[in-house]
Amino acid sequence: MTYVQGAPTRALFAKSGPVELQLFKFTRTSQPDHPQPPVTTKKMGAIASSLRFDEHFPPQPIWSTDHIPDLSGKVMIVTGGNAGVGKHTALLEHNAKVYMASRNATKAKETIDDLKTRTGKEALFIQLDLADLRSIKNAAEVYMSKEKELHVLFNNGGVMMTPIDELTAQGYDLQFGTNVLGHFYLTKLLLPILLSTAQATEAPVRVINTASVGHSMFPKLDFNTFRDGKARRRLWANQIYGQSKFGNIVFSNELARRHGDEGIISMSLHPGNLKTELSRHLPFLARQMEKILFYPSEMGALTQLWAGTLPDSEAKGLNGKYLVPWARVGTAARSAYDPRLGMDLWQWCEEQVKDF
Ligand SMILES: NC(=O)c1ccc[n+]([C@@H]2O[C@H](COP(=O)([O-])OP(=O)(O)OC[C@H]3O[C@@H](n4cnc5c(N)ncnc54)[C@H](OP(=O)(O)O)[C@@H]3O)[C@@H](O)[C@H]2O)c1
Repeated sequence: MTYVQGAPTRALFAKSGPVELQLFKFTRTSQPDHPQPPVTTKKMGAIASSLRFDEHFPPQPIWSTDHIPDLSGKVMIVTGGNAGVGKHTALLEHNAKVYMASRNATKAKETIDDLKTRTGKEALFIQLDLADLRSIKNAAEVYMSKEKELHVLFNNGGVMMTPIDELTAQGYDLQFGTNVLGHFYLTKLLLPILLSTAQATEAPVRVINTASVGHSMFPKLDFNTFRDGKARRRLWANQIYGQSKFGNIVFSNELARRHGDEGIISMSLHPGNLKTELSRHLPFLARQMEKILFYPSEMGALTQLWAGTLPDSEAKGLNGKYLVPWARVGTAARSAYDPRLGMDLWQWCEEQVKDF
């Protein structure tokens, strides 16, 4: 899969400096040594930036899956890998051992068969329902009974704007419970194997947390809304989704703070606005608009794949970063970097899972 080639690609992969610094060429609107734009242009730039225009309509990609190195010996888990952003061929094509952690065995089997036809390689299935803490515990135990190492955990699966009456098996809001608490618990259970892999291989491991530009719709955490009740029912479904994606970033940043110096690189990202099954709960008209405005789902894999496979020397500088399409470093809402909020979310999650 190659999206764009040419001069920018050569600039990115020139060996002269870290990728992050080179990316600034493409993400910053003004360089210190350039003339400053007029005030009106500056204002328009500020408005575009607050609307995250650049994340909704990103410039052409300057990275492609052709740049993925050989991944032989690397073991990876992709949650929700049977559809949308998580369903891609690139990891298998580059010889990674991939576990597809999905809730629906039939759908997963179909995807595994399809990927095998396209790549000649077979992903492995693990039953995982992120909306059920018991299932998550079971999935982590199954994984650790089969493998001694875990190099990359893609916390990708998720739901959006589900009906308000839908809750997780343990009674949490379905969006927050699946997207945030579920991935927190999976990561917590897999932390020992992630840490031991980093130690044994003397190389960092990665946790890639798929968030969304939608986090900026509700860049705060109202802890009263994580379980059902009046406060939760006062919110719109898109606010609850935005909050859950904001939670993904807060979690990612807290993981980076807690375990960055032990060899874990934690990143969050917006994969792009994509034509996937995520919009299944949206009204008909909104789904039609998406068909016109959104990008093919395969492009959504780019930023995750970049995060999960770029060389360690470059990935080290991305611990605690928020990435944006296509394969660039961005900036999340300021509140997502608040260490106090990160600690509060972590403690709340710990409290919820302590009896499982
Ligand atoms: N599409 C976009 O425009 C967009 C934009 C920003 C962020 N994202 C994020 O990208 C990620 C992937 O979304 P997508 O667009 O690829 O949507 P998708 O096509 O609906 O895929 C979501 C995946 O998550 C799985 N999943 C849902 N609930 C689960 C559960 N309880 N346990 C285990 N797996 C579960 C789904 O499984 P089933 O197949 O069984 O339903 C599916 O494999 C999500 O985190 C989403 O928030 C997407």
